[in-house]
Amino acid sequence: MRIAMIGTGYVGLVSGTCFADFGHHVTCVDKDAGKIDGLLAGRMPIWEPGLEQLVKSNVQRGRLAFTTDLGAAVRDAEAVFIAVGTPSRRGDGHADLSYVFAAVEELAGLLEKPVVVVTKSTVPVGTGDKIAALLQQKGAPEGVSVASNPEFLREGAAIADFKHPDRILVGAEDERARHALAEIYRPLFLNRAPMLFTSRRTAELTKYAANAFLATKISFINEMADLCEAVGADVQDLARGIGLDNRIGPKFLHAGPGYGGSCFPKDTLALLRTAEEQGVQQRIVSTVVDVNDSRKAAMADRVREELGGSVEGRRIAVLGLTFKPNTDDMRDAPSIPLVEKLVEGGATVVAFDPVGREQAEKVLPKIEYAASAEQAVDGVDALVVVTEWDEFRALDLQDLARRMKGKVLVDLRNIYDRAEAAQAGLTYRGIGRG
Ligand code: UDX
Repeated sequence: MRIAMIGTGYVGLVSGTCFADFGHHVTCVDKDAGKIDGLLAGRMPIWEPGLEQLVKSNVQRGRLAFTTDLGAAVRDAEAVFIAVGTPSRRGDGHADLSYVFAAVEELAGLLEKPVVVVTKSTVPVGTGDKIAALLQQKGAPEGVSVASNPEFLREGAAIADFKHPDRILVGAEDERARHALAEIYRPLFLNRAPMLFTSRRTAELTKYAANAFLATKISFINEMADLCEAVGADVQDLARGIGLDNRIGPKFLHAGPGYGGSCFPKDTLALLRTAEEQGVQQRIVSTVVDVNDSRKAAMADRVREELGGSVEGRRIAVLGLTFKPNTDDMRDAPSIPLVEKLVEGGATVVAFDPVGREQAEKVLPKIEYAASAEQAVDGVDALVVVTEWDEFRALDLQDLARRMKGKVLVDLRNIYDRAEAAQAGLTYRGIGRG
C-alpha cells in the first residue's frame, strides 16, 4: 500500500515508520521544515527507544520518505492518515481540532482520487462525520472514505506496542475503508493481533474510554495508597493481592505521584467536555480528574513534612523529571507542580533526569541541573525520586547517603526498600507504605 502520514509528531512518526517497516511505502509530511530537515538528516524530533534505527533502515530501503509538500505526499497515496496534535484547548479543556481541520481542508483540494482518510489522532466522537462533510464541501473527489483508527501506543515502548498490539481498532462506515485498513494491518493480523471493526463513532469514543479507564485504575490505587498509609498497610502488596484476580488484572496498579503525559490528562478532560455537551453525567471520570489534580499538587507537602514543616532555605535533589521513564516528554509531568511548590517554599532544587533535561529546562528554568544522580545529591537536605528510571533502581544508597547533608529520602515511585534505606542511614518515605 502507498500511505501518506500527515504529522510527524510522536504518533505520526512512529506509526509511519512501523507501516514502512511492514513493507508499505510511506511518505510522512509535516509543516515544520526544521523537523523534516532533521529527519532527512537522520535526527529524531523525539527520544524514543529504537526509533532512530528503524527510521534510518526504512529510509535506506526506499520505503520511508519525509517532505513538507502535502501535494507530493498524497499524489499516489491510497490511504492518508491524519496524525496531527489534538491538544487541550486553552481555557475549556475541549480537544483543539484546528490542526485536524486545517489538514483536512488542505487535503481536500489536493486529492485526485477517492482515497481512504484515516484519523489516528485522538479526536472527539463525531469528528469523522465532520471530516467527511468538510472533504465534500471543499471539493474532494466523490467516494473518499473516512475511517477512525486510534492508537494505543505508550511512549517509551511505542514501537513494541505498534508491532505487538493488544488489539487494532478500526471504525469505518464502508467496505472500502475496512478493506484498506485490513490490508494495511495484514502483517499484524497474520501475527494474530485481534482486529476489531466498529462504527466510526464507536472507535472514536473507545479510545477515550480506554484512557479514562486506565486513568481510573491509577487514581483508584493512589487513593488506596493514602488509606494504606493511614492504617499501616502496604499498597504494593494490596495491588498484587487484587491484581492477581483476572477480572482486575495486575497492570496499572502502581501507586505514585499521579498520572501525567500527553494523553491521560487531556483525554479525560475532553471526554468530560463531550459528556457535558451531550448532557450525560460522567461522575467517575470527573472524580478521577479531581483526584489526580489534587494528588499532584499535594506531593510537595510530603517533602515539606519530612523536612519538619518547611523547605525554606533547604537544598533538595529531584531524580527524574519526565512524566515517566524512557521518554524526554515533560507534558503534564507530576514533577512540574512538585518542583514549583518547593521553589515557591524557598527551597533550592537540583534535578537530574537521564534524557529529559532539555525539555525540562523549558518548563522549569529556575532550578539547577546536575549531570548525574550522584552530583545531584551532593550536600542536599533531602532526595526526592519522582520518575522511576531504571538507572535509579540500582543506585548505591550508602554512597548517596554519604554525599547528602540531610538524610531524608522521599520515594514517590516505591523503587527502594525501607529497610535498605534505613541501613544506609536514610529516613524513608514511600507511597502507600504505612
Ligand atoms: C498512554 C496510554 O497507555 C496509551 O495507550 C495511549 O495511547 C496514550 O496514553 P503514555 O501517556 O505514553 O500512554 O503513558 P503510560 O505508560 O500509559 O503512563 C501514563 C501515566 O500514568 C504516567 O505518568 C505514569 O507514570 C502513570 N502511571 C501508569 C502510574 O502512575 N501508575 C501506573 O500503574 C501506570
